[in-house]
Amino acid sequence: MNVRFDPAARLRGEIVPPPDKSISHRAAIVGAMCSEPVRIHNYLDAADTNSTLDAVRALGALVEARPDELVIRGTGLREARTPEAPIDVGNAGTLMRLLPGWLAAQAGHSFTLDGDESIRRRPVDRVAEPLERMGARVQATNGRYPPFTVTGGRLRAIAYELPVASAQVKSCVLLAGLAAEGATTVGEPSISRDHTERMLAAAGATVHRNGRHVTVVNTDELVLERLTVPGDPSSAAFALAAGVLVPGARLLVRGCGVNWTRTGFVRILQRMGGIVIGDLEEEPGDEVTPHEPVTDLDVAAGPLVGTVVEADEVPLAIDELPLVALLGCFAEGETIVRGAGELRLKESDRIATVVEGLRGLGARIEATEDGFAVTGNGGLRGGVMLSHGDHRLAMLGAIAGLASREGVEVIGMDAAGVSYPRFMDDFARLV
Ligand code: S3P
Repeated sequence: MNVRFDPAARLRGEIVPPPDKSISHRAAIVGAMCSEPVRIHNYLDAADTNSTLDAVRALGALVEARPDELVIRGTGLREARTPEAPIDVGNAGTLMRLLPGWLAAQAGHSFTLDGDESIRRRPVDRVAEPLERMGARVQATNGRYPPFTVTGGRLRAIAYELPVASAQVKSCVLLAGLAAEGATTVGEPSISRDHTERMLAAAGATVHRNGRHVTVVNTDELVLERLTVPGDPSSAAFALAAGVLVPGARLLVRGCGVNWTRTGFVRILQRMGGIVIGDLEEEPGDEVTPHEPVTDLDVAAGPLVGTVVEADEVPLAIDELPLVALLGCFAEGETIVRGAGELRLKESDRIATVVEGLRGLGARIEATEDGFAVTGNGGLRGGVMLSHGDHRLAMLGAIAGLASREGVEVIGMDAAGVSYPRFMDDFARLV
């Protein structure tokens, strides 16, 4: 599906972002690991998170969709069923990297995971390495890629230092740690999103943080009665960017998750001069809180200046970095992102696709090995942008169109359905 986004003459009103994708994936997986039913309110109904529901069903969980909530009746930590067919993760990297943490604990049972064309280009060796050290077996295609098979074992606790900051890998090891003899510790080079830690704490597990290290203690069961998924800050980021870029815009983003580990983009935006007002969570200390903070954000357009995003800030804004590049096109001076080589391993190579895509619209942007540098030149002309089947690229093109002088045609807009199925309706109401 190809869609044209014309320059927005105005952008006003309220927007409720879709439920958080990261938290929805975790809710379904942790729900399936629980011994008692879990009621989930505001679960994301999108392609990625529906893949997770299908996966946990295949593993023996019962998923009941009620009008205002989802009820998951799990199998418990060690009793997942062995499905006859491979588990299809679709386009969902988070599912592909978190689920093996649970599967690793199913001693003597094997599970094969596969997905779409984009998933088959995304490495799984980063989860295979710690899981094998814990006592599971992982056989991947060419040693690195899906399809791959996880064979569960009797797990032992490990202390593992992540080579790159990744919430997915951290979460995988923590999930496996629940069933490993002893206390499992994961260290990260810089802090990444902590939804798994918070959810496990809410489900009764013992989870500690000590700076960049997180420890989970093994347990016999998880119990999580009820959980509400907040609005997704990564989806809300498209509205925030539009709100600061479209002249005269004024938006209210309602019910947005503002966990500090997810609001790096808001802080970058504020530093660039964008007006975003709301009750953001402060940087948490070592205590793992079992809650996810939520607030309304007020956004208004204003002049922007360039900024530098360094490696420490990258995991806190990883999925929003394409939008930082877009903001850079409208900012005075240079906007530089460094230490973001991980972008090359997302749904597309987001350094290559963002640079090529924005350049085609008139941006002055250069790719580096681990990021990009943009020189603002008064906005964007417009043109045609390819989504490359990547949801965040498709929505980037749409926002670029609203803020451009001549509009943007996005080729492959349907990719947005992976995380934000109502994107077009939401923005049609605002312009
Ligand atoms: C996610 C973590 C990030 C992010 C992805 C979702 C998660 O990936 O890019 O969209 O839910 O844990 P990495 O952990 O690979 O950085």
